[in-house]
Order: sequence, then structure tokens, then C-alpha cells
Amino acid sequence: MEHCQRYLLCWLLLLPVAVNASGNDAGMALLQKDCSGCHDLTGPAPTTIAGVWQRQGPDLFYAGNKYKPAWLKTWLQKPVRIRPAGMYYGRHIKEGADGDVIDSTTLKPHPRLNGEQAKAVTEALMSLRAGSHLINEGEYKPGKISMAMGELMFDKFRGCLACHEIEEGYGGLSGPEVYSAGNRLQEDFMISYMRDPQAWDPRIFMPNKHLKDRDLQKFVHFFRALAAENEQ
Ligand code: HEC
Ligand code: HEC
Repeated sequence: MEHCQRYLLCWLLLLPVAVNASGNDAGMALLQKDCSGCHDLTGPAPTTIAGVWQRQGPDLFYAGNKYKPAWLKTWLQKPVRIRPAGMYYGRHIKEGADGDVIDSTTLKPHPRLNGEQAKAVTEALMSLRAGSHLINEGEYKPGKISMAMGELMFDKFRGCLACHEIEEGYGGLSGPEVYSAGNRLQEDFMISYMRDPQAWDPRIFMPNKHLKDRDLQKFVHFFRALAAENEQ
């Protein structure tokens, strides 16, 4: 009897591990089947400019170091646009009277997953952890910045607004919007990416602005404040 009890206990302890592994497997199978045509799940990132422009969707092979899982799970069920002019903007911009405008007829909606699929895929994505050596875990220290100062840094001092929107319809079209970045991206990832974008993506066209550690922290404060404001 005692033996049996112990045996049962072993199975109960192992159960969560088994369920976890099968969730991950199901998610991985779905990723391979429905997502790998547009997203690179294995890396490395393209090493030529042509390779960058040919990309059909963002690289996901370091998803576990980049995204917040709660955001992934929600977004996969209800995707909203992150790059206002698609990926990449060159394919979805036409000339208008006042400069470039987005040709939305060429922008396709992102595939949607149901709740169960989104859960499994999120788990699988969070296990893709290339680039860990570029992340200093715990580097970001929560703090505050005034919106006015954040905007000044983002626009006038550093010229980031030329490529990134800080609210829908306000800012550049060639990069991802940053008003949801605070919900979407892990803080330590943002710091690492802004410190050296090419360490993650060798030929990406975001310039390395050689930001000081203090400014990296301030930008993340700003993105978190923007995300909080955007949620209301
Ligand atoms: C036809 C191409 C295509 C397919 C198929 C596709 N995606 Fe995407 N995916 C994109 C594009 C393009 C974006 C960028 C969307 C944007 O910026 O608004 C994107 C964005 C994403 C993002 C947000 C990442 C980020 O940094 O912007 C995730 C997560 C994602 N896709 C996961 C998936 C999963 C999971 C599947 C399979 C179920 C999938 N995608 C299938 C093209 C695709
Ligand atoms: C010339 C255009 C350009 C400028 C200027 C620029 N970026 Fe970027 N940025 C990009 C592109 C392109 C990406 C990556 C796009 C992708 O993953 O599809 C990016 C990515 C990012 C990311 C990661 C966002 C994400 O969703 O993956 C952050 C954070 C960021 N930039 C912040 C900044 C800050 C802060 C500045 C100013 C110091 C700046 N950027 C200046 C083009 C630019």
C-alpha cells in the first residue's frame, strides 16, 4: 500500500511536466505548420540588406527573450497592427499630395488563433531563447519620467519619432509603433535592443545612437508610461 501511494505521488508530481511538454509540442507543431512561412523560428537573422527587405514577418527565434507572454497570448487572438505601414513600409507606401501615405489595400490582416492555440503557441514561443547572452537580466530599474521629457528625448534630442509612432497617426511609419511597447516587450530586451540594434539584427536600418545607460533606462520609463496611457 505504501509503495502504491508513493507510486501515485510520483505520477502526480510528473503530471504538470508532461502537460507542459505536450502544450509546447502542440504549439511548436502549429508554429511550424502555419507560421514558419512568414516567420523565422530558427535564426540566424539575415546578414544582407536584401535579406532584411525580403522578410515577410518579424523574426521569432528569440521570442522568449523579447515578448511578454501575456501580451502574446492576447495579441495572437486579436492581432492589431504594430508596424503602421506593414512589413516593410516600402511595399505599402504610395505617394500622396502631402507626401507618403499608407496603401492599406496592400496590407493583409494577421492570422488569428483561438484561445487554446494562442496558449500553446505562446508557450512554444517563450521557449525560443536565442540571444540570451545579449540580455542583462534585471538591468531595467523601474522609474519615472515626465511625458514632456520623454517626448522631447524621443523626438527632438534623438530623432526616434522619424521612424516610430508614439500614438496612432503620430510619428514615423518605417518602424514598429512604440505606444504598446511597454506591454509588448520585456524591459531588459528593450534596453539591449536600443543599446545595439545590430547585435540582434545585423542589417536592420535602426541606427545605433550610442545611448548612455541612463538614457536607455529613461526610454523604457517613457514606453511604459505611454503603454499605461494607451490602455486607458
Ligand atoms: C502571411 C505572413 C504571416 C503569417 C502566415 C504569420 N504571420 Fe505573424 N506576422 C506577420 C507580419 C507581417 C507581422 C507584423 C505585423 C505588424 O507589424 O503589424 C507579424 C507579427 C507577428 C507577431 C508580433 C511580433 C512583432 O514583433 O510584431 C507575432 C507574435 C506573430 N506574428 C506570430 C505569428 C504566429 C504564431 C503565426 C502562425 C499562427 C503567424 N504569426 C503567421 C506575418 C505573418
Ligand atoms: C531609421 C529609422 C529608425 C530610427 C531613427 C529609430 N528606430 Fe527604433 N527601430 C527601427 C526599426 C526598423 C526597428 C525594428 C523593426 C522590426 O522589428 O520590424 C526598430 C526597433 C526598435 C525597438 C524595438 C521595438 C519592437 O517592437 O521590436 C525599440 C524599443 C526602438 N526601435 C526604439 C528606438 C529609439 C529609442 C530610437 C531613438 C534613439 C529609435 N528607435 C530610432 C527603426 C528606427
